[in-house]
Amino acid sequence: MLTARQQHCLNGIGIRRWVVRASAPTGAEDIPVPVIQDSPSPVVSPTTTPKEASISTASVVTRAEICLDSWEDITRSIHQCESCALAKNCTQKVPGVGNQQADLMIIGEGPGHDEDIKGEPFVGRSGQLLDKMLQAIGISRSQVFITNIVKCRPPNNRDPHRDEVQACSTFLRAQIKQIDPKVILSVGRISAHSLLQSTSPVGKLIQDIHQLPESDIPIKVTYHPAYLLRNPSAKSITWQDMKTLHRILGK
Ligand code: URA
Repeated sequence: MLTARQQHCLNGIGIRRWVVRASAPTGAEDIPVPVIQDSPSPVVSPTTTPKEASISTASVVTRAEICLDSWEDITRSIHQCESCALAKNCTQKVPGVGNQQADLMIIGEGPGHDEDIKGEPFVGRSGQLLDKMLQAIGISRSQVFITNIVKCRPPNNRDPHRDEVQACSTFLRAQIKQIDPKVILSVGRISAHSLLQSTSPVGKLIQDIHQLPESDIPIKVTYHPAYLLRNPSAKSITWQDMKTLHRILGK
Protein backbone atom coordinates (compact mmCIF):
# COMPACT_ATOMS: atom_id res chain seq x y z
CA MET A 1 0.00 0.00 0.00
CA LEU A 2 1.09 3.57 -0.57
CA THR A 3 1.62 5.67 2.51
CA ALA A 4 -0.33 8.94 2.72
CA ARG A 5 2.89 10.81 2.04
CA GLN A 6 3.75 8.77 -1.05
CA GLN A 7 0.22 9.29 -2.34
CA HIS A 8 0.56 13.00 -1.68
CA CYS A 9 3.80 13.11 -3.67
CA LEU A 10 2.26 11.26 -6.59
CA ASN A 11 -0.73 13.59 -6.57
CA GLY A 12 1.59 16.58 -6.39
CA ILE A 13 3.32 15.67 -9.63
CA GLY A 14 0.11 14.67 -11.35
CA ILE A 15 0.64 10.94 -11.44
CA ARG A 16 -2.35 8.73 -10.95
CA ARG A 17 -1.53 5.34 -9.59
CA TRP A 18 -2.31 2.49 -11.94
CA VAL A 19 -4.61 0.09 -10.24
CA VAL A 20 -5.64 -3.23 -11.64
CA ARG A 21 -9.41 -3.06 -11.81
CA ALA A 22 -10.24 -6.60 -10.81
CA SER A 23 -8.78 -8.34 -7.83
CA ALA A 24 -5.07 -7.92 -7.59
CA PRO A 25 -4.39 -6.18 -4.34
CA THR A 26 -1.19 -8.05 -3.66
CA GLY A 27 1.74 -6.61 -5.48
CA ALA A 28 -0.34 -3.73 -6.86
CA GLU A 29 2.03 -1.37 -5.10
CA ASP A 30 4.80 -2.64 -7.37
CA ILE A 31 3.10 -1.42 -10.50
CA PRO A 32 5.53 1.06 -11.98
CA VAL A 33 4.74 4.70 -12.45
CA PRO A 34 6.11 6.88 -15.22
CA VAL A 35 9.58 8.23 -14.69
CA ILE A 36 9.94 11.93 -14.06
CA GLN A 37 11.93 13.30 -16.93
CA ASP A 38 13.90 16.46 -17.19
CA SER A 39 12.55 19.26 -19.24
CA PRO A 40 14.15 19.23 -22.71
CA SER A 41 16.78 21.77 -21.81
CA PRO A 42 18.94 21.26 -18.71
CA VAL A 43 19.92 17.88 -17.39
CA VAL A 44 20.30 19.38 -13.97
CA SER A 45 18.31 22.26 -12.69
CA PRO A 46 17.61 22.67 -9.00
CA THR A 47 14.75 24.95 -9.81
CA THR A 48 12.97 22.33 -11.90
CA THR A 49 11.00 20.55 -9.26
CA PRO A 50 9.29 17.25 -9.96
CA LYS A 51 6.07 19.25 -10.10
CA GLU A 52 7.32 21.19 -13.10
CA ALA A 53 8.98 18.30 -14.82
CA SER A 54 7.36 16.68 -17.78
CA ILE A 55 6.39 13.07 -17.51
CA SER A 56 7.18 10.42 -20.05
CA THR A 57 5.77 6.96 -20.18
CA ALA A 58 8.82 5.79 -22.11
CA SER A 59 10.53 4.33 -19.06
CA VAL A 60 9.58 3.53 -15.53
CA VAL A 61 10.89 3.92 -12.02
CA THR A 62 9.61 2.64 -8.75
CA ARG A 63 7.61 4.93 -6.51
CA ALA A 64 10.42 5.29 -4.03
CA GLU A 65 12.30 7.67 -6.31
CA ILE A 66 9.63 10.29 -6.55
CA CYS A 67 9.68 12.01 -3.16
CA LEU A 68 13.10 13.60 -2.82
CA ASP A 69 12.58 16.42 -0.39
CA SER A 70 14.98 15.33 2.36
CA TRP A 71 18.45 13.78 2.52
CA GLU A 72 16.94 10.64 3.90
CA ASP A 73 14.58 10.36 0.92
CA ILE A 74 17.33 11.07 -1.58
CA THR A 75 19.81 8.59 -0.14
CA ARG A 76 17.23 5.85 0.32
CA SER A 77 15.90 6.37 -3.20
CA ILE A 78 19.39 6.17 -4.69
CA HIS A 79 20.00 2.91 -2.85
CA GLN A 80 16.66 1.51 -4.07
CA CYS A 81 16.97 2.76 -7.64
CA GLU A 82 16.86 0.32 -10.53
CA SER A 83 16.03 2.83 -13.23
CA CYS A 84 18.90 1.94 -15.55
CA ALA A 85 21.24 -0.91 -16.37
CA LEU A 86 24.10 0.47 -14.25
CA ALA A 87 22.30 -0.53 -11.06
CA LYS A 88 22.48 -4.21 -11.98
CA ASN A 89 26.24 -4.30 -12.46
CA CYS A 90 27.65 -2.15 -9.68
CA THR A 91 28.78 -3.43 -6.29
CA GLN A 92 26.94 -0.66 -4.49
CA LYS A 93 25.47 2.79 -5.02
CA VAL A 94 27.67 5.81 -4.35
CA PRO A 95 25.31 8.66 -3.43
CA GLY A 96 27.88 11.23 -2.30
CA VAL A 97 29.75 12.32 0.79
CA GLY A 98 30.50 15.40 2.81
CA ASN A 99 29.07 18.52 4.32
CA GLN A 100 25.39 18.90 3.54
CA GLN A 101 25.65 22.66 4.11
CA ALA A 102 28.75 23.05 1.97
CA ASP A 103 29.50 26.22 0.06
CA LEU A 104 31.32 24.10 -2.49
CA MET A 105 29.77 21.11 -4.24
CA ILE A 106 32.02 18.97 -6.39
CA ILE A 107 30.46 16.90 -9.17
CA GLY A 108 32.48 14.24 -10.96
CA GLU A 109 31.52 11.70 -13.58
CA GLY A 110 30.74 8.42 -11.87
CA PRO A 111 32.25 5.94 -9.42
CA GLY A 112 35.32 4.03 -10.55
CA HIS A 113 36.61 0.71 -9.21
CA ASP A 114 37.73 2.01 -5.80
CA GLU A 115 34.60 4.08 -5.28
CA ASP A 116 32.40 1.13 -6.23
CA ILE A 117 34.10 -0.98 -3.56
CA LYS A 118 34.12 1.70 -0.86
CA GLY A 119 30.78 3.39 -1.58
CA GLU A 120 32.37 6.84 -1.51
CA PRO A 121 33.21 9.16 -4.42
CA PHE A 122 36.78 10.08 -5.31
CA VAL A 123 38.70 7.76 -3.02
CA GLY A 124 41.15 6.33 -5.59
CA ARG A 125 44.15 8.02 -7.18
CA SER A 126 41.97 10.70 -8.77
CA GLY A 127 40.45 11.38 -5.38
CA GLN A 128 43.83 11.78 -3.74
CA LEU A 129 44.76 14.37 -6.35
CA LEU A 130 41.41 16.11 -5.92
CA ASP A 131 42.09 16.34 -2.17
CA LYS A 132 45.46 17.97 -2.92
CA MET A 133 43.83 20.43 -5.33
CA LEU A 134 41.45 21.46 -2.55
CA GLN A 135 44.22 21.64 0.03
CA ALA A 136 46.09 24.01 -2.27
CA ILE A 137 43.36 26.60 -1.65
CA GLY A 138 42.97 25.75 2.02
CA ILE A 139 39.86 23.58 1.75
CA SER A 140 39.56 20.14 3.30
CA ARG A 141 37.46 17.29 1.96
CA SER A 142 35.21 17.45 5.01
CA GLN A 143 34.14 21.00 4.14
CA VAL A 144 32.72 20.15 0.72
CA PHE A 145 30.07 17.84 -0.66
CA ILE A 146 31.29 15.45 -3.35
CA THR A 147 29.10 13.45 -5.69
CA ASN A 148 28.92 12.28 -9.29
CA ILE A 149 26.64 12.62 -12.29
CA VAL A 150 25.81 8.90 -12.02
CA LYS A 151 25.71 7.07 -8.71
CA CYS A 152 26.58 3.59 -10.01
CA ARG A 153 29.85 2.52 -11.60
CA PRO A 154 29.66 2.20 -15.39
CA PRO A 155 31.18 -1.15 -16.43
CA ASN A 156 34.88 -0.93 -17.29
CA ASN A 157 34.72 2.79 -16.52
CA ARG A 158 32.98 3.53 -19.81
CA ASP A 159 31.20 6.86 -20.23
CA PRO A 160 27.70 6.77 -18.79
CA HIS A 161 25.03 6.65 -21.49
CA ARG A 162 22.57 9.44 -22.02
CA ASP A 163 19.65 7.51 -20.52
CA GLU A 164 21.78 6.67 -17.46
CA VAL A 165 22.68 10.32 -16.93
CA GLN A 166 19.05 11.19 -17.42
CA ALA A 167 17.88 8.61 -14.89
CA CYS A 168 20.31 9.86 -12.25
CA SER A 169 19.68 13.56 -12.90
CA THR A 170 16.63 13.47 -10.64
CA PHE A 171 18.88 12.61 -7.69
CA LEU A 172 21.55 15.13 -8.56
CA ARG A 173 18.97 17.85 -8.95
CA ALA A 174 17.57 17.01 -5.52
CA GLN A 175 21.07 17.00 -3.96
CA ILE A 176 21.87 20.41 -5.44
CA LYS A 177 18.57 21.73 -4.18
CA GLN A 178 19.28 20.48 -0.65
CA ILE A 179 22.81 21.90 -0.53
CA ASP A 180 22.18 25.09 -2.49
CA PRO A 181 25.95 25.61 -2.82
CA LYS A 182 27.67 28.91 -3.43
CA VAL A 183 29.51 27.32 -6.32
CA ILE A 184 29.79 23.97 -8.12
CA LEU A 185 33.12 22.58 -9.25
CA SER A 186 32.40 20.45 -12.30
CA VAL A 187 35.14 17.89 -12.70
CA GLY A 188 35.83 16.62 -16.20
CA ARG A 189 34.04 16.31 -19.51
CA ILE A 190 31.05 14.14 -18.60
CA SER A 191 30.22 16.33 -15.62
CA ALA A 192 30.60 19.60 -17.54
CA HIS A 193 28.67 18.41 -20.57
CA SER A 194 25.83 17.05 -18.45
CA LEU A 195 25.53 20.06 -16.18
CA LEU A 196 25.87 22.67 -18.90
CA GLN A 197 24.14 20.80 -21.73
CA SER A 198 27.18 21.54 -23.82
CA THR A 199 29.42 19.60 -26.14
CA SER A 200 32.30 22.09 -26.07
CA PRO A 201 35.73 20.76 -25.17
CA VAL A 202 36.68 21.03 -21.49
CA GLY A 203 39.66 23.15 -22.57
CA LYS A 204 37.16 25.76 -23.76
CA LEU A 205 34.67 25.41 -20.90
CA ILE A 206 37.35 26.05 -18.28
CA GLN A 207 37.86 29.53 -19.69
CA ASP A 208 34.57 30.90 -18.33
CA ILE A 209 32.47 30.79 -15.22
CA HIS A 210 29.13 29.26 -16.15
CA GLN A 211 25.80 29.12 -14.47
CA LEU A 212 23.69 26.08 -13.72
CA PRO A 213 20.73 26.33 -16.12
CA GLU A 214 17.67 27.86 -14.51
CA SER A 215 19.55 28.79 -11.36
CA ASP A 216 22.00 31.39 -10.16
CA ILE A 217 24.60 28.86 -9.02
CA PRO A 218 27.98 29.45 -10.68
CA ILE A 219 29.80 26.48 -12.13
CA LYS A 220 33.57 26.33 -12.47
CA VAL A 221 34.71 23.60 -14.83
CA THR A 222 38.10 21.97 -14.35
CA TYR A 223 40.02 19.06 -15.82
CA HIS A 224 39.36 15.66 -14.30
CA PRO A 225 42.17 14.57 -11.93
CA ALA A 226 42.50 11.37 -13.98
CA TYR A 227 43.33 13.56 -16.97
CA LEU A 228 45.87 15.48 -14.86
CA LEU A 229 47.50 12.22 -13.82
CA ARG A 230 47.97 11.41 -17.50
CA ASN A 231 48.86 14.99 -18.49
CA PRO A 232 50.73 16.61 -15.59
CA SER A 233 51.51 19.70 -17.68
CA ALA A 234 47.83 20.69 -17.44
CA LYS A 235 48.20 21.08 -13.65
CA SER A 236 49.23 24.72 -14.04
CA ILE A 237 45.88 25.47 -15.73
CA THR A 238 44.09 23.66 -12.92
CA TRP A 239 45.91 25.81 -10.40
CA GLN A 240 44.36 28.85 -12.09
CA ASP A 241 40.95 27.14 -11.87
CA MET A 242 41.44 26.56 -8.16
CA LYS A 243 42.38 30.19 -7.60
CA THR A 244 39.23 31.26 -9.46
CA LEU A 245 37.21 28.90 -7.28
CA HIS A 246 38.79 30.38 -4.17
CA ARG A 247 37.81 33.84 -5.35
CA ILE A 248 34.18 32.84 -6.05
CA LEU A 249 34.00 31.33 -2.58
CA GLY A 250 35.13 34.68 -1.20
CA LYS A 251 38.00 33.15 0.72
N1 URA B 1 36.13 9.73 -11.05
C1 URA B 1 34.95 10.37 -10.92
O1 URA B 1 34.53 11.12 -11.79
N2 URA B 1 34.28 10.18 -9.79
C2 URA B 1 34.70 9.40 -8.81
O2 URA B 1 34.01 9.26 -7.81
C3 URA B 1 35.93 8.73 -8.98
C4 URA B 1 36.63 8.92 -10.10
